[in-house]
Amino acid sequence: MMNRVKATVLFVLLGLLVLEISCQKPKTPEEEVAFLKVRLALMKDRYRLLCNQYSSLANNCSAPAIPCKECPDGWLQVEDQCFLLSKDRHNFSTSAQKCVDMGAHLAILTTREQHEAVEKEGRRIAGFHIYYWIGLSDSEIEGDWRWVDNSKLTTLFWNVHKSEPDNHQSQGPEGEDCAVVDSYTQSWYDVPCEFEYPRICQKGASPLL
Ligand SMILES: *[C@@H]1O[C@H](CO)[C@@H](O)[C@H](O)[C@H]1NC(C)=O
Ligand SMILES: *[C@@H]1O[C@H](CO)[C@@H](O)[C@H](O)[C@H]1NC(C)=O
Repeated sequence: MMNRVKATVLFVLLGLLVLEISCQKPKTPEEEVAFLKVRLALMKDRYRLLCNQYSSLANNCSAPAIPCKECPDGWLQVEDQCFLLSKDRHNFSTSAQKCVDMGAHLAILTTREQHEAVEKEGRRIAGFHIYYWIGLSDSEIEGDWRWVDNSKLTTLFWNVHKSEPDNHQSQGPEGEDCAVVDSYTQSWYDVPCEFEYPRICQKGASPLL
């Protein structure tokens, strides 16, 4: 409680300071920039305070809190995770590397919300019948599906109507060791890792400040 009072007092004081600065009409562009910087810093502090208050209020609520975090422009936010659906197509290993190059990884879809959000976004961007790589493969041990962080698969969205994954050998004896999410059936298929598809990269949302 004391901290909140202190913070409020601080804001009032800083607010007065800004008011004072802004009353002395900024003259040069440099002064203008300096003034805007102070304002920005104040707003960030205020945001942080509101965010803390919101989070602690949310602890006492049954409705889930929206995290005070955000994704880079163009990324889709689902819970506290960010997803990017690419346009360019590559095989599985190149796609995985391209995500890593962005400080991300191929998507690890562990909740229904994440699965549904990305297949819906796929349909929105690319229409029906689009496959996107997700970070799931069984290239190490056939049938032992692992995410790119080596975690085991627990929540599954395979296309059960088509008996996926089927390790179909029609494309060669290697079978199908990598997984895609299909925007039409809204489910997963196993496909040959050397095929080229767009990808879904994922990284954690960062605090706004
Ligand atoms: C949340 O609930 C606890 C216990 O009922 C209470 O002590 C606390 O003040 C509440 N926090 C907020 C932010 O309302
Ligand atoms: C994936 O593509 C890269 C670049 O085109 C190529 O060097 C690599 O051999 C391919 N890997 C597989 C498994 O097809």
